[in-house]
Amino acid sequence: MINGERTIARPLRWGMVGGGRTGQVGYKHRTGALRDGTYQLVAGAFDLDADRGRDFGTKLGVAEDRCYATYQELIAAETGRADGVDVVSVATPNFTHFEITKALLEAGIHVICEKPLFFTVKESEEIKALAEEKGLIVGVTYGFTGHPLVHQMAAMVKKGMLGDIRIVDMAYTHGFNAGDDVGAPEAVQWRTDPKRSGPTFVLGDIGTHLYYLSEIVLGDIKVEKLLCDRTAFIPSRAPLEDHATVLMHYDNGARGRLWVSSVDAGNMGSQRYRFVGSKASVAWSDSHPDQLIYQVQGEPERIMHHGMPYLEDESLAADRMGALHTEGLGDSWSNIYLWIAQAIDAKMRGDDAFLASHHYPDIHAGLEGVRWLENCVKSADQDAAWVDFE
Ligand code: NAI
Repeated sequence: MINGERTIARPLRWGMVGGGRTGQVGYKHRTGALRDGTYQLVAGAFDLDADRGRDFGTKLGVAEDRCYATYQELIAAETGRADGVDVVSVATPNFTHFEITKALLEAGIHVICEKPLFFTVKESEEIKALAEEKGLIVGVTYGFTGHPLVHQMAAMVKKGMLGDIRIVDMAYTHGFNAGDDVGAPEAVQWRTDPKRSGPTFVLGDIGTHLYYLSEIVLGDIKVEKLLCDRTAFIPSRAPLEDHATVLMHYDNGARGRLWVSSVDAGNMGSQRYRFVGSKASVAWSDSHPDQLIYQVQGEPERIMHHGMPYLEDESLAADRMGALHTEGLGDSWSNIYLWIAQAIDAKMRGDDAFLASHHYPDIHAGLEGVRWLENCVKSADQDAAWVDFE
């Protein structure tokens, strides 16, 4: 159980690029980072609008002279200070992730970056090599993957409680883009523009969450080939998609089905997962994150609750609130930020043994998400052909 006790040598001096007053995801980062005393927010280039960013930053408690107009100014000033930032989170639109992450790493600063990490596998491999060369951590914020019941599902699969995994069924859908984009906010404008969003819209925006979570649960079971069919129901979004279906074959023979959509009018269900084995199934959704449905063939259905002693150790170790009380998205983000802080702390201490067994969403997790996107686009571009996963 996580109770806020300090688990690292000292709090990390933390900065943010993006995540300003109008940004959608910035508060989730601060909710995650500022929970356990593992990070102190000391600097930021929060906003494209420098004045608004400074005003916002000071209201978050950041000193005015450490609220910078640009990320370049942040890097120049912070690397010149004895108490400069240790780590910076990048919560900006997709097209800026690569250049900002690269500049931060070159300046010797650890990075926590939003998904989809970059546009290409090539960029991701370049950043992986740079981080290794510099001895720095790159973490990626797949929001719900710190939830204790996600780790319960992973433990149940690993321990064979479901039998052989046969079917993976996942969906992340909403209807917020069911209408056209006339007058839409900036966060929609950049998401539907290939120059700023990258090669995908909903596949990268929400599909990468499904894919990474399934990677955690499935462990050694990997995608062998896939077929992706994508479309833009709102034509102005083409060539990007607002809806996609992906079929996957796994190397153990399992079959997967995943759909992502932002035109699922009226749906507020968000993320749904079902992992089916030869003996039993588990199902979990972020609409009811406290509950895991466990169905054993021939037995009555069970609802497992987070924080209960019958859960596996891996799940209880990630629990914060304890049974009976809601454990949700903010708690999951806090776990992700804590696990990344522990990785940075270990890196700073040169503790390779700790890092070898420590699990957190790392550069590899980000890279694999980008690889999955590249394969999806490759398939979709061939009129939804099966492609070997490369
Ligand atoms: P947004 O458009 O709502 O906000 C972007 C923020 O970054 C704004 O404050 C803007 O002023 C600032 N900004 C943009 N360029 C900047 C620059 N060069 N320097 C400094 N600040 C800059 O975008 P949103 O929705 O918050 O998405 C940001 C990123 O977070 C995207 O990569 C998106 O995919 C990801 N995201 C992840 C979520 C998750 O659950 N992990 C949820 C929502 C978004």
